[in-house]
Amino acid sequence: QEAHAAEMERTFIAIKPDGVQRGLISEIVSRFERKGFKLVAIKIVIPSKDFAEKHYHDLKERPFFNGLCDFLSSGPVVAMVWEGEGVIKYGRKLIGATDPQKSEPGTIRGDLAVVVGRNIIHGSDGPETAKDEINLWFKPEELVSYTSNAEKWVY
Ligand code: PPS
Repeated sequence: QEAHAAEMERTFIAIKPDGVQRGLISEIVSRFERKGFKLVAIKIVIPSKDFAEKHYHDLKERPFFNGLCDFLSSGPVVAMVWEGEGVIKYGRKLIGATDPQKSEPGTIRGDLAVVVGRNIIHGSDGPETAKDEINLWFKPEELVSYTSNAEKWVY
């Protein structure tokens, strides 16, 4: 199964300021890592309000847009790109439902968050947004292609 490394799916995942402040970085990274997904980019940044508005541009009309953008730009965010078969959809599954009151136990939000405005993590919701968000947050040279030792046992 050597061939598929090159065309493996990628998604954008961000640990929001509440997740960083609560010391949940390693917990969240660990869940993606143990699943068998591969980390191909990671950095910690404080996004500007303008940048947050770009990230959430699809939600411009929603009543919570301004608050959500203020929140994202209120402190350090851990931005990541994860790679693996089905990672976009399954990443969302690991994250759990948007509203932590509705996310199942065992999911990141189900286990670690209580309200929607402080739901600790973001994940791209489809292939198009994954591509757009990766391009918004990362330069191409920040994405690292490599073969992990685990890979031949995961696939
Ligand atoms: S919606 O309502 O269907 O658009 O929700 P969804 O597409 O799942 O959510 C889009 C992002 O908006 C955030 N969100 C909220 N933030 C604050 N307050 C309220 N009420 C609220 N509802 C949704 C939600 O967490 C999503 O952000 P990310 O960062 O992608 O999780």
